[in-house]
Amino acid sequence: MKKLKILLSIVFVTFLFTGCLYNFILPEDAPPVVDPDDPDAPEVSFVEVIEPIFNNSNYCTACHKTGGTAPDLTTGKAYASINSARYINSATPEESKIYTHPHPDTDTHKQKKYTSAQAAQILVWISQGAKNN
Ligand code: HEC
Repeated sequence: MKKLKILLSIVFVTFLFTGCLYNFILPEDAPPVVDPDDPDAPEVSFVEVIEPIFNNSNYCTACHKTGGTAPDLTTGKAYASINSARYINSATPEESKIYTHPHPDTDTHKQKKYTSAQAAQILVWISQGAKNN
């Protein structure tokens, strides 16, 4: 009986400390949702939308930084690093390596993947001409 009481108190105390924890998802972390099939999608800015995907909380730049793994995705360097046929296929945007390699539906990049919303942003940005905008 005493054991049961102790056990119940442990369970109670555990709930006391863990029961009310919430994971807050801050709205500014989530990129605005775009539809890659919408030709009238608002223009996706490289500086305001794409670069932050790479560097917010070092999401990609933890490894893809100057002197680290190529491509260098740090702010100010990212555009020059990915602006090549290796990473961007302007004729067939959905075959661009910067889109396909970390895509959530693939296994090519084990380290970290885009969320599907981020992947959509990347695809729209490439479809709109992969501009340094
Ligand atoms: C934990 C470290 C790490 C993180 C974080 C990471 N990567 Fe990588 N990435 C690598 C490594 C290692 C390779 C090379 C091996 C491979 O192809 O998976 C690579 C390869 C790549 C390639 C192919 C490079 C080439 O030239 O073939 C792309 C594109 C890429 N990563 C994009 C990203 C993006 C975008 C993010 C963020 C969503 C990201 N990576 C996050 C480690 C990382």
